[in-house]
Amino acid sequence: MGVDLVVKNIGKLVTMRGNSSPRVGEEMNNLEILENAYIAIENGKFVAIGIGEGYEDIVSKYTRIENANGLLVTPGLIDAHTHLVHGGSRENEFSKKLSGVPYIEVLKQGGGILSTVRSTKEATFDNLYTKAKKSLDRMLEFGVTTIESKSGYGLELDTELKQLKVAKELDKYHPVDLVHTFLGAHAIPVEYKDNHKQFIDILVEDMMPKIKDLDLAEFCDVFCEDGVFTIEESEYILNKSKELGYKLKIHADEIVSLGGAELSAKLGCTSSDHLMAASEEGMKQMAQSGVIANILPGTSFNLNKSYADARKMIELKVPVSLSSDYNPGSCPSENLQFIMQLGCLGLKMTPNEVLSAVTINAAHAIDRQDEIGSIEVGKKADLAIFDAPNVEYLMYHFGINHIDRVYKEGQLVVD
Ligand code: NIG
Ligand code: FE
Repeated sequence: MGVDLVVKNIGKLVTMRGNSSPRVGEEMNNLEILENAYIAIENGKFVAIGIGEGYEDIVSKYTRIENANGLLVTPGLIDAHTHLVHGGSRENEFSKKLSGVPYIEVLKQGGGILSTVRSTKEATFDNLYTKAKKSLDRMLEFGVTTIESKSGYGLELDTELKQLKVAKELDKYHPVDLVHTFLGAHAIPVEYKDNHKQFIDILVEDMMPKIKDLDLAEFCDVFCEDGVFTIEESEYILNKSKELGYKLKIHADEIVSLGGAELSAKLGCTSSDHLMAASEEGMKQMAQSGVIANILPGTSFNLNKSYADARKMIELKVPVSLSSDYNPGSCPSENLQFIMQLGCLGLKMTPNEVLSAVTINAAHAIDRQDEIGSIEVGKKADLAIFDAPNVEYLMYHFGINHIDRVYKEGQLVVD
């Protein structure tokens, strides 16, 4: 019968194949790039990768043959840290931020995350679905084929459930695949301001088991930060979530160097995210225990903060991924290509390192490395075709959308 689809005449094909562990150090920069390549797809998966017209003996009259017109092809991009589902927006805090009021101060005044909590509580399921779908459509248009989506704007069971159910529904009906994270420990609700312990007990004893039973989240995450959850509280919450069968993530060392990086290594988190203030010792420990450093340069850019020390992490062989952190406060943008450009301009990563960070290493950050993140036989046929002659051009020509076409599991979803 022949294969379902061949994409031929690929000018440069970045495969990212061959590693079962995340890329570290030099591996992030040394990429296999095939010229004049083709890819064959059957039942939504890659079945062959080769050069020139080598596909001729696997096609039949039923095979669709599409021409990549000499362009650049990469695995579908992965955004491994988003706060996709939320109500409202926070442009009302923009002037405050521009005048220098710190992010955490806005939160302490009852704004920031807590303001989005109020909007998310008020929003109906349909409001949240429609708004999140619009953002997901945008992400896909920028070449993103899988995302991680966090709850965390409810801080009580019903609203957390509402957010997680919206994300589940989107996963069912939208081409982009979603991976779900429970972030009930995103802020302390005002009513528990002086009684963290009581809120943490509700999180751990009521919300976490119910959400696990309903199979609404695979990961559990905590905002470990000065003025939010302490190291001890974060360790307690994450240990409890591990007992319930969650995999672990942590918002670590974003503003203050609290030891979040060290904690993520100690607990064996799948990823540790932000890390702008991570200590060198913390990075070494993360390298040792194989925690992915999921860096979010859009947040540094938008909050006008320093960037994480990605060069040091790569030198220490910490596996680095990059994500958007899309959210209404610290990074209101769905554009992962801009984040990649900040990977070069802000983090001083090379274009090849950046591409490793948003494909195979991002797949590791959400434990999907066996299914996505590289173009190799057996994986999902998720492809981004860029109107660009090479990887460097993608990062150098900034602020535009380079996408020519996107395929999700072998289906053309952006044209
Ligand atoms: O990853 N740092 C905590 N959480 C988000 C911001 C959420 C918000 O401001 O609404 C982040 O930056
Ligand atoms: Fe975040």
